[in-house]
Amino acid sequence: MTHTIALAGKGGTGKTTIAALIVKHLLETRRGTVLAIDADPSSNLNLALGLPLTRTVGDIREDMLAGVDKSVGTSVARRDYLDAEIHYALEEGDRVDLLAMGRPEGQGCYCAVNHLLRELVDGLNRAYDYVVIDNEAGMEHLSRRTTRDVDVLLVVTDPTVRGVRAARSIVELAHNLKINIKRSLLIVNRANGSIPPALQAEIDAIGVELAAVIPADPTITAFDAEGKPIIALTATSPAVQAVERLAEKLVE
Ligand SMILES: Nc1ncnc2c1ncn2[C@@H]1O[C@H](COP(=O)(O)OP(=O)(O)OP(=O)(O)O)[C@@H](O)[C@H]1O
Ligand SMILES: [Mg+2]
Repeated sequence: MTHTIALAGKGGTGKTTIAALIVKHLLETRRGTVLAIDADPSSNLNLALGLPLTRTVGDIREDMLAGVDKSVGTSVARRDYLDAEIHYALEEGDRVDLLAMGRPEGQGCYCAVNHLLRELVDGLNRAYDYVVIDNEAGMEHLSRRTTRDVDVLLVVTDPTVRGVRAARSIVELAHNLKINIKRSLLIVNRANGSIPPALQAEIDAIGVELAAVIPADPTITAFDAEGKPIIALTATSPAVQAVERLAEKLVE
């Protein structure tokens, strides 16, 4: 059975960084295969994973709608064609594959194509042991059902009252979506020291378990400055250690 972990949160809170560190942990401690889905239109999970990115699901849809592939006639042929295109868009790493969703559909989009793409991406998910989905702040793709079932939704926030309130709205929004979310957990990222009581009170008010407090980590800042992939951080990084402890709570 596929185990799906999705990340959500306000812009810049650390979703992509934590997604990459979770992928790293899965690759180092589990035998299974991992699919990383970049559901942020500004796609940069590939950089964090050290993988190239050539084509997105959005590109496939746009080419099809632009009539580049007019020759694809029957619906069966269209399905096979889109399936092949999705496999072609998959970036294959060493035990981790990456699929970037790209831009969500615009107005006047041909519904059947979207429906097919969604179904095919959902089917692809099920071929992996672990799926890690890095969502954009608005959760557009999640709401359009990039996947049907989410085992754990990780809502990432910075260590501020304002941030935690935003996380609370995201938790509520996520639960109103027509996807099946088994568990939601909160992550406070870029913390400096312990959580002050006022912040803890806001966290308690959400009613979602605080699963990890990830410290502000200068090694991440240094990697970022040099454009090095986050997945190449070593176990001496305090953020890596915090995500290792977190990941143990996510998968049996
Ligand atoms: N624990 C941390 N310590 C230090 N820097 C961090 C930490 N977590 C994330 N960062 C830095 O914060 C910035 C934002 O992180 P990231 O891109 O992962 O956030 P995001 O939530 O995916 O953002 P976006 O909403 O733009 O996709 C990056 O420069 C990243 O290197
Ligand atoms: Mg991101």
